[in-house]
Amino acid sequence: MPMTRTILGIESSCDDTAAAVVRQNDEGTVILSSVVFGQTTLHAAFGGVVPEIAARAHAEKVDHCIEQALLQANIRLQDCDAIAVTAGPGLIGGVLSGVMCAKGLAAATGLPLIGVNHLAGHALTPRLTDDVAFPYLMLLVSGGHCQFLIAHSDDRFERIGGTIDDAPGEAFDKTARLLGLPQPGGPAVELAAASGDEKRFKLPRPLLDRTDCDMSFSGLKTALLRARDSVMGPNQTLKAGDQADLAAGFQAAMTDVLAAKTARALDIYLALAPAEPVLAVAGGVAANMPIRNALTNLCATAGVRFVAPPLALCTDNAAMIAFAGLHRLARGDYDDLGLSARPRWPLDTKAPGMLGSGKKGAKA
Ligand code: KG4
Ligand code: ZN
Repeated sequence: MPMTRTILGIESSCDDTAAAVVRQNDEGTVILSSVVFGQTTLHAAFGGVVPEIAARAHAEKVDHCIEQALLQANIRLQDCDAIAVTAGPGLIGGVLSGVMCAKGLAAATGLPLIGVNHLAGHALTPRLTDDVAFPYLMLLVSGGHCQFLIAHSDDRFERIGGTIDDAPGEAFDKTARLLGLPQPGGPAVELAAASGDEKRFKLPRPLLDRTDCDMSFSGLKTALLRARDSVMGPNQTLKAGDQADLAAGFQAAMTDVLAAKTARALDIYLALAPAEPVLAVAGGVAANMPIRNALTNLCATAGVRFVAPPLALCTDNAAMIAFAGLHRLARGDYDDLGLSARPRWPLDTKAPGMLGSGKKGAKA
């Protein structure tokens, strides 16, 4: 009898409401549908994600998003084998919207419920897109996360470093605000930097004096603020040339730090002597071309395959949650209706907590 498993995935941990249907059989895994309702316009006026607005939008949209995903996959809910939902880490109101909805659907249909760690979703994506073998090294760089993980198996991830304060995407977004560029900041800073001189402003490369894989970006932001103020005109205006040079300086510092720390992470990973060494990236910042080029060059020198999943699967989506859920479905490892939403949920519970984390603590 050929094996076929079909699973509905739901994601609502930050500012994207997403649902997807993924099917696995003896021949492989197929994404039957992946629907993402973004919230960028809702938060645009506030310069960042407003948790309360995000939670309301998720609660309003999640049913509709699931309907769309089922329709596009041409499948009925009762024909799925399980429901996987992000149960953390993330903004608690949003995570709750998804978890409550998934519980309701599981109670109504009797389908198994599987609470997935959002970070496991990102970390397993290279297996969905490129079928990479364990163990592989993963660099997660998004608006909320920044960590190096060695994926040993679908449920064992070793965190070997990460940011002790801001995530890189957060730093790009703050930089854009300081320079009067639009949100989301990453693409805007990258565009402005393209015509800038990265050497004009000497910005710091924090923590490169330490031999570990930890990073810090809040000092870089403060240095950028000072550099900006040094060239600010009388009416608090910034010339286009200064804006471009500041953006280029920031991006170069970010690229240098990520490249240097990735080189260290690769040393730790390669000591495991993996048969087919792979560095994979995920998260919105992985879209940045200078960062991507630096990592590609690093991998070429180290003889490591570089895997960057398509952007739609690098950023938040529900196909990755469905795929992570399939691993537990295969083991018959389910949650019950007592599943709770978790704002914090480290993937590697053995790794020490991040020092110097901000008042909200390390993001994950
Ligand atoms: O993974 P993502 O879509 O959402 C989460 O944070 O989970 O990442 C969004 C982040 C934003 O901070 C955005 O500014 C950043 O990724 N980003 C970029 C680029 N495109 C998006 N950062 C640098 N360069 C880019 N081209
Ligand atoms: Zn994410």
